This record gives sequence, C-alpha cells and structure tokens, in this order.
Amino acid sequence: MSKERFYITTPIYYPSDKLHIGHAYTTTVADSLARWHKFTGKEVLFLTGSDEHGQKIQRIAKEKGVSPQAYVDQIVATFKELWKRLDIDYDVFLRTTSAEHHKSVQEVFRRIYEKGDIYKSKYQGWYCIPCETYWVESRLEEDKICPDCGRPVELVEEESYFFKLSKYQDRLLEHIEKHPEFIQPESRRNEMVNFIKEGLEDLCISRTTFDWGIPVPIDEKHVIYVWLDALTNYITGIGFPDNQPLMEKWWPADVHLVGKEIMRFHTIIWPIMLMALELPLPKTVFGHGWLLFDDDKMSKSKGNVVDPHVLIDEIGVDPIRYFLMREISFGQDGNFSRRALIERTNSDLANDLGNLLNRSLAMLERYFDGVVPEPKEQEAIDVELQELAAKTSEKLEALMDKLAINESLISIWQLIGKANKYIDETAPWALAKDPEKKDRLATVMYNLIEVQRIIALLVKSFIPRTGQRIWEQLGIAEDINSLLITDTKWGGLKPGTETNKGEPIFPRIEVDKVEVVKEEKVKEEKVEKTDNVVNLIDISDFAKLQLKVAKIVTADRIKGADRLLKLQVTTGDSERQIVAGIAQHYQPEELVGRNVVIVANLKPAKLRGELSEGMLLAATSSDGTLELVSVSDRIAPGSIVK
Ligand code: MSP
Repeated sequence: MSKERFYITTPIYYPSDKLHIGHAYTTTVADSLARWHKFTGKEVLFLTGSDEHGQKIQRIAKEKGVSPQAYVDQIVATFKELWKRLDIDYDVFLRTTSAEHHKSVQEVFRRIYEKGDIYKSKYQGWYCIPCETYWVESRLEEDKICPDCGRPVELVEEESYFFKLSKYQDRLLEHIEKHPEFIQPESRRNEMVNFIKEGLEDLCISRTTFDWGIPVPIDEKHVIYVWLDALTNYITGIGFPDNQPLMEKWWPADVHLVGKEIMRFHTIIWPIMLMALELPLPKTVFGHGWLLFDDDKMSKSKGNVVDPHVLIDEIGVDPIRYFLMREISFGQDGNFSRRALIERTNSDLANDLGNLLNRSLAMLERYFDGVVPEPKEQEAIDVELQELAAKTSEKLEALMDKLAINESLISIWQLIGKANKYIDETAPWALAKDPEKKDRLATVMYNLIEVQRIIALLVKSFIPRTGQRIWEQLGIAEDINSLLITDTKWGGLKPGTETNKGEPIFPRIEVDKVEVVKEEKVKEEKVEKTDNVVNLIDISDFAKLQLKVAKIVTADRIKGADRLLKLQVTTGDSERQIVAGIAQHYQPEELVGRNVVIVANLKPAKLRGELSEGMLLAATSSDGTLELVSVSDRIAPGSIVK
C-alpha cells in the first residue's frame, strides 16, 4: 500500500539583504509540520525557495552597481545558510531564476492565453513597487499611499496583458463556501470573502518598463508579472509541466503556509490561475500572523529587525524554534522580545524539560548505576502517567492536523509537568532508603525514563536537536529519526539500557546582570526543586532567613534601567531601600501602600549604583507573569514571616 503523502510549502522569499527573525517564523513552523507528518508515517515534500524577479530587485541591483543575477545569487546563498543553521530541512529549494521555472511560467501563461483568459489592453493605474502590487484608485489611502505598506504608489501607463479574474469570481466564492478548510484561520476567510464580494477586476499581468523577469512567450517585449511568476513555483517544484507523474503524485498541495499580508495573492490570484489551468486547488492556505517588535511588524524598512544569526549564537537554535512556536498563538500576531525568549528558555526548556532529564538520570545513576531496571507491579499513579502519555500522542495528531502548533507544544509540556510531579509524588529518594521498596523504586525509575523516551519522540519535530540530545543521554541505540508516532506506545524502553548522563541540555541563561534580584529568586526556586533529590535543607538553615512584612512607602523608576524599581519600605521601626526587578510587571503607583514580604537579612548590594538592602518575594508563572507575595493590612510592617 502506498503511503499517504503530504505536500507543504512556505512562500518563496524576496531576496532581501537581511532575513530577520520574522522571516524565520514561516519556515520554522513549516519545517516542524513537515517533520511531524513524516513522524506520523507520511511521505512528505517540503518546498521553499526564492522569488527573484521584479522591478524592485532590478532597482536595488542597479543601485548597488551589480547585475540582478549577481545580486540575487549572493543573497540566496545567505538564505540557504540561515535555513541550515535553523535546521530547516526542506526537500526542494525553488529559485525563480532557474531554467525549469522559466519554462514552467511560460507554459502557464501560454495555457491560460490559449484558453482565452488572457487579453491585451492598456493599463493605466497605480502600482506599489515595494509590494509589487497593482491598486485600483478606490482602495488607495489618501495621498495615494499603498494600503499594505504605507508607501507612495506610482502611476504607470503601459500596454499590458490582462488576466480575466472577474470571470472566475463566482466559482471561487463557491469553492470557498464549500471548502471551509481552504482558507484558514476563519477570520482571514471572512476577510477574503468580503474582498472578493466587492468585485474582482481583471489583473494586469505583464510589464514593459523593465526587463528583469520572464518574458511573455508570445510577446517578448513584455515580462510576466512577478506574482504570476512567483506563485507558479508551487507547481514547478513538483515537475510542472514535463513530469506528469510527479505532478500527479504531489498536487494539490496540502498546506500553503503564508503570512497574512500575502493571503490575497494565495487565495484569489493563485486559485484562479489553477482554475484556468484546470488544476485542482490546494487543500489549505493558512495565513499566519506577524511577529511584532514593540507592537509593530518587524521589517527592514522600519529598522526594527532582529538578526537571527546573533540570536542563534547567543541563545541557540532550539530555544528560538521553541519560542516562535510556543509563544505565538498560531494565526495571531505575537510580540518578540529577547527577554521573553530567555525567560521561555529558562522556564520551559532549562527548568521543566532539562531538569527533568537531569534529575532522573542522576537518580538512576545513584540507585541503579545508570542502567534502566526491569519494571515490576504498576500502581495507580503509574497508570495515570502512562495514560497521559498515550493521550498526549493522540491529542497531538488531532492538534497538528488543525495546525494548532502552540497548543501542541502546551500539550507536550503538560506531560513534562506531569513527569516532574511524578518524581515529587513517588519520591524515589525515600524509596531508596528502604531495601524493601527496591522493586517499587525500579518501577518508578523505569517509568520516569520511559516517559522521557516518549517526550523525546514528541518534541523532535519541533526542536530536533533537543530530541536527539535527550535520546543520546537516555542511551537508546536506535536512530531517533527512524521511529514513528506508533513507537510512542508505552513500554518501548528496554530494561538494561545503559544511560549516559551528560551536561544539562539547557543551561540557564542569565537575563541581565542588573536583574540580580529576580535572578536570585529564580535560583532559589531551582534549588528548591533539585533539593527534593539531593540537597534538602534542615530547619536551622531555614531559620537563617529573616522574612519580614514591609510596607512600600515610595516606588520610583530608575533612569536607564527599564526593569528595575527603587522602593523605600518600612518594617515598622526602620526604613530601607530595595531595588527590585519588577518594573515590567507593576506600575510604581500601584505599589505604594502595599504590604509585601522581604528577605530582611540579605547582604546589601548595589544595582545600577543604587543601594539595595533586601529582596522582595514574588512568584513567577510559566507564562512569565510575576506577582509579589503580599499580606493584608491586618499584619503590621515588621511582622516576622515563617
Ligand atoms: N516573495 C513573496 C512570496 C511569494 S510566494 C509565491 C514574499 N516574500 S517575503 O520575503 O517578503 O516574505 C516571506 C514570508 O515571510 C511571508 O510569509 C511573510 O509573511 C513572512 N514574514 C516576513 N516578515 C514577517 C514578520 N515580521 N512576521 C511573520 N512573518 C513575516 O512575501
């Protein structure tokens, strides 16, 4: 029986000097989807590439004093380098300057022309060069500004070929109505339907005022409109027009993943081109949101781009991949910040995932010389863990089919959370003290390593390096990439496997030296967790801490330190100053008068030149929300907390 197949594409990218982390978003998600579908046993084709023609490129190359081809060659090499660094494992990289694409686009033009859907006329109207988009006057903003990018459009007048979009308007609306999965998410479907209902105008699809493009086959003075050229890539990459068997195997695509600003091209022009070519339409076009920076779209022209190479060097590939997919609700816009990236890495990857592996392997080493023991009788708590593991795999299949990427990760992290809780509840360190509990200890340790075998398999599509590193430390001989979702069935781990405890897979990243206060607190949390295993403190250690209630008298920002607040607090008989890393969570005004809990006997330190005598207690949730530990006014400042 032949395997089910899955064809996924990203847009092909414009050669731009610098790809930013926003660009990496589409490819990272597509790569994870491709890997996931392979993992579920499908045959997968993942296409990306570069969109190298058009007036914009010709202008830039001219400004730089190089030929357009030399310019794009050099940039495309940088794309490939970035994708490699981000572990983007595409199957086809399609360049629109390749000979096969040239042939394919001309064939598309010829077929549509022969069908009678292309005619020659005169175009007089508005064109946005940066977006390579034609605009009817009624859709322009005041002062003839492009509604997409906000830059001035240009008046062009030339003899052109036109594509009869209007002829297909009703057929397209009918298709969208009958196939709700065609345009996703729903909000974008509604937007597109409204746009189409306003009426489609025939599209100008050739230009004569520049020549960096593919010539119209029947009239070489004209070059083909860059979007018609670019969209054709999705079929050139699978053999159009010559390799019919390959085309039949892969077309129609399962998912075109695109950013929301290019939905119109993918859900109006492209399907109508396919209708005119008498080819089926892709199953789904999914329009994702933008990665924002300070609530603005990250883009080179706005000068707010974040260079992925710098981030990779500083923080690593998997934290970036994980952050992009976990932090942003797929389909919506989401904010990028370096700080949020570091916090996510520390909490989810270093603490939840990394610590789980480290604690488990340390215990296995101590109690069983690092060798996976034979499990014995299972108790209710074990069955609960096994059931959640099975449910997670099942749930993930359904979520990934819906392209619910961030929910999928949340679901895997629920299993990771459960595994951490399993350690706390089964307390292997206590079992180890009782020789009669040896069998129970063996069962618990087996289950703990087994659940991490399953976790490694489940995370590997999203963060491939991490899956591999967990696998190596677990000491499993099979190649992780040869295994499928069916291998997540409980019990795959062989007793006798020799594990290799190594370095923590995600060392904590220090956010910023000036954030000592908050860092201290997180370190404490971490120590608390690992202490379950090794480093329990006794009551006399705890007694060394002086925790007191303090009332905040004043709160002020510190110039140049946007995360810190300077607080004057009273403990009844004395006042002191504390500098706290909470400025991103509280406004100074809302703090005044509040009764908080402080560590009163912390050695004084200077933060940004300000004396800090103590520390506030606060709790941070996994989504980064921070809340100060507070007590009501009934407790007087100075009261001891214990
Ligand atoms: N060349 C066209 C696509 C042609 S497809 C037939 C194009 N290229 S692009 O380089 O401008 O964009 C490539 C992809 O990156 C698009 O999906 C776009 O939405 C995405 N992103 C660019 N900036 C982005 C953010 N700031 N955030 C999220 N995605 C963004 O469009």
